Amino acid sequence: MNEDLNVHVINHPLIQHKLTLMRRKETGTKDFRQLLEEISMLMTYEIARDFPLEDVEIETPVAKCKGYKLSGKKVGVVPILRAGLGMSAGVINMIPAARVGHIGLYRDPETLKPVEYYCKMPGDIAERMLIVVDPMLATGGSASAALELLKQKGAKSMILMCLVSAPQGIRLVNKEHPDVPIYVAAIDDHLNEKGYIVPGLGDAGDRIFGTV
Ligand code: PRP
Ligand code: URA
Repeated sequence: MNEDLNVHVINHPLIQHKLTLMRRKETGTKDFRQLLEEISMLMTYEIARDFPLEDVEIETPVAKCKGYKLSGKKVGVVPILRAGLGMSAGVINMIPAARVGHIGLYRDPETLKPVEYYCKMPGDIAERMLIVVDPMLATGGSASAALELLKQKGAKSMILMCLVSAPQGIRLVNKEHPDVPIYVAAIDDHLNEKGYIVPGLGDAGDRIFGTV
């Protein structure tokens, strides 16, 4: 792996197996969506290893004992629309009490620059840990713009979780948001002339929603 990339690659065998199924061009919408949700659950499980806990006193039917709960305010999950919705479903399965914010961005096909069209966040995002999700980190323009927007709205603690990434996108987010840890399932080779990740999996939004 490139020395200059600051990124956590979650290469659990189940994730790599499912990701390979997603990459296959024959995989249809139903399976693609289900696999993305399953991988997002597994990635959330891995990312949550570092979440802080606090002690709680509880009573079982047998005795009082010490237990644990996740510390602080409920986690926020922020899908970057549209494709991020396919991942937020998995995160919410694992953290059902998570609050959900949405950022609408699309990548202009000519300039490859992100265009914002929607933003609705839970209150007090400054006090929440936010998991920003988007399956594809290509040029990094969309993720970087989303993180910037969230910082402007007060976010202080964020994680970026993506499925497939390109070195270029990781470098951009590392440079513009060195405070934001990045978790991915794969780092692919390069971007093609249309800004698609190679080998990638094609257009994630289209494959999740069955559009063209
Ligand atoms: C895709 C993807 C990311 C972005 C990645 O979204 O889901 O948001 O492209 O590319 P970048 O790193 O070069 O910015 P797209 O713009 O296709 O919108 P969609 O999710 O609505 O399909
Ligand atoms: N967006 C996608 O959906 N796929 C890519 O390969 C790059 C950006």
